[in-house]
Amino acid sequence: MNPQKKLHDWYLLHKRDLPFRKKKQAYPIWISEVMLQQTRVAAMLPLFENFLNRFPNPEELAKASEEEVLAHWKGLGYYSRARNIRKAAIQLVNLYNGSFPKDLELVLKLPGIGNYTARAVLSIAYDLPYAVLDGNVKRVLARYVGYTKNILGPKADLELQEKANEFLNLDFPGDHNQAMMELGATICLPESPKCLVCPLMEGCFARIHGKTKDLPIREKSQKQISLQGEIWIVQKDDVYLLIKEPKNRFLKGMFHLPYGFLGELPNNEYQPSDFFHFLGSLKGKSQTLGTIKHTITHHKLEYSVPHLKLNHTRDLESFLKTSGIDFKWVNLDSLETEFPSSLAKKVKKILLY
Ligand code: ADE
Repeated sequence: MNPQKKLHDWYLLHKRDLPFRKKKQAYPIWISEVMLQQTRVAAMLPLFENFLNRFPNPEELAKASEEEVLAHWKGLGYYSRARNIRKAAIQLVNLYNGSFPKDLELVLKLPGIGNYTARAVLSIAYDLPYAVLDGNVKRVLARYVGYTKNILGPKADLELQEKANEFLNLDFPGDHNQAMMELGATICLPESPKCLVCPLMEGCFARIHGKTKDLPIREKSQKQISLQGEIWIVQKDDVYLLIKEPKNRFLKGMFHLPYGFLGELPNNEYQPSDFFHFLGSLKGKSQTLGTIKHTITHHKLEYSVPHLKLNHTRDLESFLKTSGIDFKWVNLDSLETEFPSSLAKKVKKILLY
């Protein structure tokens, strides 16, 4: 027996008895699918019944005030979804006599209806051959076909949609989609999946290779951290100060223009050095040339650029020496080779401008 058939047989035996599965009608299926994007089945059922009693079809919904529709959405949150449902109902009535068009492109044009909802409604109500992809389906598919890339990555949705399309049961698209979701919700659980009672166990890559704990791979991209600070041009005659500070967060191990961060800092690793504070005490003698932006792996940095011209450097050099900071004075031509970061180029541009 092919896996799609096994899944279908399993679904017919085990599917939950839910009110929106009683009749194949697009309207209640649509409402239920939107509600289910916000909450679990048990929590949405009373709201669903209540909503359908008051708005039993698109015509009633289209006639209702936005206020009343929102009142019937109470407890679900994301009120823009309720506003869109009302707007979409108005379009269904005006453009399609109150019924859902049997065409994916047209359905996708309705307010608030994206790929998931359109595919769910068209497959479940009309048995049109559109595979759905939600969080549960992604997990089931990633394990079953052995999708070993990050499912949160930029291409994952497209690639998994292809896998879902290939795996779709063309005889029963609606049941198949619901079976995949149901399997994810009850058997192919994120932790401790119940593989021994799974209808897809035989061909499942993750089970066969002992990888159910590893799949799917979910790697969140690092959160961006924004920091504001200063990068200093300290000039003596025609040479400029570069330092090497072992404790600084960025540009470790290279000579660089002195820099530091200001304001509220996310944690200790961005604390400005003592030398940066020393420069701060000379701020009044400096002139700010402008600001530059710079990105270093998930950090967005914005520096203002103070320019300090010194007549004598005795105090500054003795501070550096007692702090154990290496330093050197370089001319403008060699700035970028001595400080090999695009920051050097940006600072130089501002200085020469
Ligand atoms: N989750 C969201 N919609 C569902 C459906 N129609 N069947 C099973 N699980 C679901």
